[in-house]
Amino acid sequence: MTPLLTGKVALVTGGARGLGRAICRTFRAEGARVAFTYARNEDAKNELLRDLGADGLAARVGVCDVPGTEAFLRSIEDAFGPLDILVNNAAITQNLPLALLEEDDWDRVMDTNVKGTFLTSRVVLRGMMRRRKGVILNVGSLAGERAIEAPIHYCTSKAAIRGFTEALAKEVARHGIRVLDLAPGLLEDGLGRNLPEHRLAEYLKHCALGRVGTFEEIARLAAFLVSERNAYMSGATIVADGGV
Ligand SMILES: NC(=O)c1ccc[n+]([C@@H]2O[C@H](COP(=O)([O-])OP(=O)(O)OC[C@H]3O[C@@H](n4cnc5c(N)ncnc54)[C@H](OP(=O)(O)O)[C@@H]3O)[C@@H](O)[C@H]2O)c1
Repeated sequence: MTPLLTGKVALVTGGARGLGRAICRTFRAEGARVAFTYARNEDAKNELLRDLGADGLAARVGVCDVPGTEAFLRSIEDAFGPLDILVNNAAITQNLPLALLEEDDWDRVMDTNVKGTFLTSRVVLRGMMRRRKGVILNVGSLAGERAIEAPIHYCTSKAAIRGFTEALAKEVARHGIRVLDLAPGLLEDGLGRNLPEHRLAEYLKHCALGRVGTFEEIARLAAFLVSERNAYMSGATIVADGGV
């Protein structure tokens, strides 16, 4: 099969670990050159950069750091050429009930998961609009789609990603840009780790496939969604949850 992303240039936020890392590796395997950001884990960043070789680039840039993102975008475009694909993947959560949530907890989760998606998108959109092409894939979650037991601030942030995706898709379609929301169910590791036992059991009970998803399964779907083979899809939320 012809690779899906030959010659494309992609930026993945929070790409050093978990789902982001699988997306970086899969995009590379599908022919893209891949840049990624991370928050603090230097070892994970170095390991992935080694895997990506000359077709990889990384920067320690927070998703709300606009000057840092602008500078990194300039480096990406100097090294690889114009950016074709942005994956807003970075997100955080905390397993806390509402009564124990502090205002700061709420702000941290909303800032990383929602404001960071807005700010990073705004930085890359200027160039995409000028070139009249581009794809933005926002990583949402089943937690933003259905009434499942999950932290309130995290669910709220992921529901916001759906609204952001739909509104932005309408606004930028005239500039030749597609925007999508990929909403996975529970995955093998990452933000889903340390889940209370009863919540994992509840998920598996309601999941038709009876298992959690793998990062690789979601990364392969992501590669298809941003590819030109998926040219007629925009504004959609794609739920990949094994049938919950
Ligand atoms: N895992 C699941 O079960 C699951 C299910 C549904 C949806 N999702 C979604 O999938 C996406 C990835 O989750 P994951 O499970 O792979 O998480 P993860 O393993 O915790 O990885 C998160 C990545 O984001 C980076 N990051 C965190 N805050 C950042 C910031 N402010 N700026 C830049 N990068 C930042 C981290 O950097 P460092 O490595 O430097 O810390 C890390 O590389 C998220 O959007 C999440 O909501 C996950």
